[in-house]
Amino acid sequence: MHELPFSEACERNREPILEVLESLLPAEGCVLEIGSCTGQHVVFFAPAFPGLSWQPSDRPEYLPGLKARVSLQGTTAILPPLELDVLKTWPSRRYDAVYSANTAHIMGWPAVEAMFSGVGKVLRAGGVFCLYGPFRNRDGSMSESNKRFDRSLRERDPSMGIRDLVSLEKLAASTQLSFIARNLLPANNQLLVFERLSESQDD
Ligand SMILES: C[S@@+](CC[C@H](N)C(=O)[O-])C[C@H]1O[C@@H](n2cnc3c(N)ncnc32)[C@H](O)[C@@H]1O
Repeated sequence: MHELPFSEACERNREPILEVLESLLPAEGCVLEIGSCTGQHVVFFAPAFPGLSWQPSDRPEYLPGLKARVSLQGTTAILPPLELDVLKTWPSRRYDAVYSANTAHIMGWPAVEAMFSGVGKVLRAGGVFCLYGPFRNRDGSMSESNKRFDRSLRERDPSMGIRDLVSLEKLAASTQLSFIARNLLPANNQLLVFERLSESQDD
């Protein structure tokens, strides 16, 4: 059995995130999670939504740990983890919602663009894309702790960094998604909500 990967932050943030997701996710359907990593979020969220199935996913190197967690702690509502690198091939099916946590500041900007473009294609019309993490406010400001975090990310890899809301809003508008809300969560994190435009607004 693969040793289970573990994130302390996931344990801390899962309850406040769940509270917000409860008001956002549909009663039925399938939710795609991008960058599931340790799988701690999906195994915690799934039992709270009896009508939903969940599709965890991540890049190949994270799949053994993710699969181990899902097989040990998952429910039948969690589908076998899928290999998904947002820069590569996306699933051909549609999802009723998409969720991703702490990915936009780890991905380089081209991958963030690819994530929004892919989500715009796989999300059904009217479905929501919930993106959790630290973000820069519209006026460019952010908390001191996020400034430090941003510096440490950029030192580690210049392509990483905390993304700003204005750029994400513009990006969403170019990819069939529309920014609809942001929820302020503990530890200076936010849950941004984007909605997939209706089919009639497709080009
Ligand atoms: C900091 S971890 C966050 C993991 C988990 N969602 C959480 O909140 O703890 C960043 C995640 O982004 C994923 N990621 C980075 N680049 C990616 C890409 N190009 N395609 C898909 N996932 C990517 C990583 O594989 C990793 O699972």
